[in-house]
Amino acid sequence: MSTKSALAQQLAIVAGFEDPTVSLEQYRTPPELAATLVHTADLHEDIADRTVLDLGCGTGMLALAAALRGPTRVVGLDIDPAPLATARENERKVASTTDVGWVRGDATRVPLAPDDPTTVVMNPPFGAQSDNEHADREFLGTAADIADVSYSIHNRGSVEFVEAFAADNGGEVTHAFEAAFDLPHQFEHHTEATRTVDAEVFRIAWR
Ligand SMILES: C[S@@+](CC[C@H](N)C(=O)[O-])C[C@H]1O[C@@H](n2cnc3c(N)ncnc32)[C@H](O)[C@@H]1O
Repeated sequence: MSTKSALAQQLAIVAGFEDPTVSLEQYRTPPELAATLVHTADLHEDIADRTVLDLGCGTGMLALAAALRGPTRVVGLDIDPAPLATARENERKVASTTDVGWVRGDATRVPLAPDDPTTVVMNPPFGAQSDNEHADREFLGTAADIADVSYSIHNRGSVEFVEAFAADNGGEVTHAFEAAFDLPHQFEHHTEATRTVDAEVFRIAWR
């Protein structure tokens, strides 16, 4: 297994969104956070024996982080075809050991029912730009339906919501950690050169 920092270095060439859509909250997870999330998942479950599904994969950062650890199968799903084209290019650049299946689809209505042990990884929209607080709720619902464990990034202050959602849907938050990261200015409504995202990452065991 490569170290967490080696994984982050491999992910540094993963390109972000060329023309991000505000309402879809399209921004790339920083390589360091993606490496930390997948490294944590690998320590818990040894993802070599698993299917990994990235809900709202964008340009592929989390799916590719997983693919570099050689799981049985990796699927990246996004509602927008534009970042999926970039994700395919990113896959060629990182030269992962496991191929990724890139699927256009709605993460809130996933047409997949994997039989094998499945890890969901995701940085879902928070609803921050649309006044749709907890837009991540439906992504968590999909994780509850198809995964036995998930790792998800949420905005700060989500712990009560995520714990309650998990408990109501047969799950349990077993681990959590905070992460803050800077995003470059990319949307019109951003007035600063960078925007700091205060996030929390949760591991949820679903069954
Ligand atoms: C914050 S970005 C994260 C992108 C990528 N996973 C990463 O970590 O770099 C959220 C992603 O969710 C996607 N998305 C938003 N709503 C979706 C939906 N209903 N179904 C699938 N993808 C969706 C967006 O297009 C965007 O790529």
